[in-house]
Amino acid sequence: MDNHAVEACNYIESLVNVSPSIGLILGSGLGELVNELKNPVFIRYETIPHFPLSTVSGHEGQLAIGKLLDTHVVMLQGRFHFYEGYSLQDVVFPIKVLKRLGVKQLILTNAAGGINRSFSAGDLMLITDHIQLFYDKQNVPSSKLQHFQPQMIYSKALLNKAENVARRTQIPLKKGIYAAMSGPSYETPAEIYMLQKLGADAVGMSTAPEARFAFESNIDVLGISCISNMAAGILDEPLSHEEVIETTERVKASFKKFMKELVKEIARKDVNHG
Ligand code: HPA
Repeated sequence: MDNHAVEACNYIESLVNVSPSIGLILGSGLGELVNELKNPVFIRYETIPHFPLSTVSGHEGQLAIGKLLDTHVVMLQGRFHFYEGYSLQDVVFPIKVLKRLGVKQLILTNAAGGINRSFSAGDLMLITDHIQLFYDKQNVPSSKLQHFQPQMIYSKALLNKAENVARRTQIPLKKGIYAAMSGPSYETPAEIYMLQKLGADAVGMSTAPEARFAFESNIDVLGISCISNMAAGILDEPLSHEEVIETTERVKASFKKFMKELVKEIARKDVNHG
């Protein structure tokens, strides 16, 4: 598998001659951030050796390298989910490639259902921690089985930077714990009630495996959820993937502004891990 990441990385490096240190994974409906890139190079996943393919609507399936304001970044427009039938090794494969490309800070974004009743659809939530509720037996980052120290996966330094940006831009930000369910079905109201009891503020079907793997690869991780709907049973309304896309449409202007300022803030000086 690691050879696969090397081959994927070599291919990408044969097409671009910059080495971006900030990576972004764009969740459902949030892919349009690539349109903000200056001189972007787009590389479709199907052309990259060993890269999985996106199968979900709202996930474009390409990698984009370019400048966001003055900073070289690499963006993944579309990610891979466990519910698509991919193993967790496949789900984290892009992170291996980003690591080899030289990424030091990774911003993971997603659309999520709001569990915390003080949230509303359209809110942005910084992920302070997560609860992962699905695993497969290959959920081992390297060939050796090892126990990693229980530490905070999400970088405190990056969380502080994101909060500074929120203050400066006056874009309101919530903070909370993200519960990752396997999907593909949305949760039942009873499952949401359980997640609420467990202390989750939002729920989705991604991000946690990628965040853990990036952390274990010594990449600083920041997670941002766009609350695209209130989770099942929180309001008296049925959920749909269309609603998820509609809400992300509505908030994309402030999302883009926030992300640009955030990348600028992160690029200001490299942060230490932790
Ligand atoms: N549940 C799970 N995943 C989601 C949701 C949700 O309500 N909204 C967006 N992704």
